[in-house]
Amino acid sequence: MNVVVVGATGGIGNALIEALLDEPRVAQIFAFSRCTGNAHAALCSERVIHGFVDLEKEASIEQAGKTLRDTPIDLVVVASGLLHDGNLRPEKALKQLSQDSLQRVFQINAIAPMLLAKAILPHMRSDTRSVFGVLSARVGSISDNRLGGWHSYRSSKSALNMFLKTAAIGSKMLQPNCVIVGLHPGTVDTQLSAPFQRNVKPEKLFSPQQSANYLLDVISDLIAEDSGKVFAWDGEEIAP
Ligand SMILES: NC(=O)c1ccc[n+]([C@@H]2O[C@H](COP(=O)([O-])OP(=O)(O)OC[C@H]3O[C@@H](n4cnc5c(N)ncnc54)[C@H](OP(=O)(O)O)[C@@H]3O)[C@@H](O)[C@H]2O)c1
Repeated sequence: MNVVVVGATGGIGNALIEALLDEPRVAQIFAFSRCTGNAHAALCSERVIHGFVDLEKEASIEQAGKTLRDTPIDLVVVASGLLHDGNLRPEKALKQLSQDSLQRVFQINAIAPMLLAKAILPHMRSDTRSVFGVLSARVGSISDNRLGGWHSYRSSKSALNMFLKTAAIGSKMLQPNCVIVGLHPGTVDTQLSAPFQRNVKPEKLFSPQQSANYLLDVISDLIAEDSGKVFAWDGEEIAP
């Protein structure tokens, strides 16, 4: 298997790479991040090819796709995402919205995965099943939204989910073996969730390793009919 992980330096992305390295059938992992050093031990494995990508730059995403050359890709996991960063915080109320924050959150969570699909889907293996999975979030479900808040993050994940459904319909004819899905990793102990963990029960807070293993189990069970859907860490389908 040849695998692509985008967001290789993230909590879940790095745990996915570590878990994938334990699988003998994984030949190569193309690990993309905007980090240029080898800060993470997993990225130093000889089965890992580290590539640069800045998800805020379209040319960088295109270039990342080109580095795959003729390698047939079996699995892609886009594990990048943005919830908070410096002054950028999830909004509780409309008055906290700003154009800059909205654009940045949509860029990383929705637009970049769309451009990654454009750049990487043509490289997916076509003779057997392949999977293009993007980490979404349960809060992106419109029907499940009872609490409100987190306007930009929620809406960016809803936009992502709509794109995944649209891409799945579009690729049905050309790439019938490619399953395109959104994946909710659970609440995971990473820097993304760190400021918001206070009310999370300990048993509901997964380690990145736990979440990565759950997600790989969900991925291994996916079938063609699942394309366009969003699944949680336990395999449950999340309603749009
Ligand atoms: N943690 C949770 O509880 C949780 C819950 C639901 C959904 N999710 C989703 O799961 C995914 C992974 O989250 P995580 O918890 O692993 O977060 P994380 O540890 O903060 O990782 C986020 C990753 O995104 C990358 N990234 C952000 N902006 C980028 C840019 N401009 N260019 C390239 N890479 C960029 C980060 O790279 P740098 O290292 O360079 O910053 C990092 O690798 C996200 O989509 C998140 O929405 C997480």
